[in-house]
Amino acid sequence: MSRTSDRPALQLRSLIKPNGELEVSLVDVPTPSPGPDEVLVRVEATPINPSDLGLLFGAADMSTIRSSGTQNRPVITARVPDGAMKAMAGRLGASMPVGNEGAGTVVEAGSSAAAQALLGRTVAVLGGAMYSQYRCVAAEQCLLLPEGATAADGASCFVNPLTALGMVETMKREGHRALVHTAAASNLGQMLQRICTADGIALVNIVRKAEQVELLKGIDARWVYNAASPTFMQDLVDALAATGATIAFDATGGGKLGGQILSAMEAAAGRDAKEYSRYGSNVLKQVYLYGNLEPGPTEFVRNFGMTWAMGGWLLFPFLQKIGPAAAQALKKRVAAELKTTFASSYAREVSLAEALQPGLIAVYGQRNTGAKFLINPNRGVAGG
Ligand SMILES: NC(=O)c1ccc[n+]([C@@H]2O[C@H](COP(=O)([O-])OP(=O)(O)OC[C@H]3O[C@@H](n4cnc5c(N)ncnc54)[C@H](OP(=O)(O)O)[C@@H]3O)[C@@H](O)[C@H]2O)c1
Repeated sequence: MSRTSDRPALQLRSLIKPNGELEVSLVDVPTPSPGPDEVLVRVEATPINPSDLGLLFGAADMSTIRSSGTQNRPVITARVPDGAMKAMAGRLGASMPVGNEGAGTVVEAGSSAAAQALLGRTVAVLGGAMYSQYRCVAAEQCLLLPEGATAADGASCFVNPLTALGMVETMKREGHRALVHTAAASNLGQMLQRICTADGIALVNIVRKAEQVELLKGIDARWVYNAASPTFMQDLVDALAATGATIAFDATGGGKLGGQILSAMEAAAGRDAKEYSRYGSNVLKQVYLYGNLEPGPTEFVRNFGMTWAMGGWLLFPFLQKIGPAAAQALKKRVAAELKTTFASSYAREVSLAEALQPGLIAVYGQRNTGAKFLINPNRGVAGG
């Protein structure tokens, strides 16, 4: 068990008060001293992923943002609309640390051999509360980065890489042979394309802008379609018929896209039908909603027969389902291909205080292609 010392260190906290005010601030927390099997990591790179944004700002209306405090200790406030407060009930009044994953240097280690072996090394951690100057974690929670890899190289080596690999694994385990992915120019989408190219799997990518089609074609994507194109549905049906893709992972979640994919899968299956059935094709058409980029309701016209499923997909339950050995095999592949298949790109590196500047929140809060930010919690901090 870790003990706490007197050394204070910065940590970012997000609080939604019962009166509907979001407050994001930096607080001093004691730096833990590692127990025998633990290490203390100085966090040097931690990404602002879409899932982190969900915890960071909750359901707040960011057009109401206000900034106060000082340059080094900024405080951000914003209003959570009354209609969204019900969904925030579970976190009201709780000051929550943020940041799923990150990487840094092990600056102290407990007495065990496993902990001592990490002293001075650069490791990645999936530990939560990573928007902190220091994190004390079990040595076994750390992924030792390969020689020469920086904290920035390893900052995003859990969530997106394991999710991309998890999609391919889910496809295989559930008996499909090709897959569909939306918001496909994302960091995760580019990883998925590189995995599919390497593993010879057909991947149908859906994006929403012409330049995203070019970006994916630039990394050897064969099937890329712009949902804004007038020929989108016809192009999609042709691609699904050619590839046999019957499983999709939709990052938008809300809106019409998930339903359009099911409709296109049904139309593609109908091309091979030997006879008419009023229940539609008997091919299972599966859409997993795995993101929430489009926050409105999920809408669909039920014109895809009776053999279909739509559900949620989340990394952590998936890893639990496949068990530690299979999960370890996926992590091993990520470590081996960290700078190639699983490389992430960032628009900018910022300090914890800079991450709370309204002008920068307006940029990274958009979740646009190539606009992901990396926080270095020790940047610009005395002793950091
Ligand atoms: N379920 C899980 O376990 C799990 C795990 C990891 C990641 N995820 C999800 O995976 C997705 C990608 O993550 P990432 O870190 O790779 O993202 P990222 O690099 O920040 O890229 C986000 C992408 O989403 C697109 N986008 C944003 N809003 C959109 C909308 N309303 N409709 C369509 N496209 C939109 C952006 O395109 P524009 O430039 O056009 O805005 C951009 O290409 C996120 O939704 C994240 O929550 C889920």
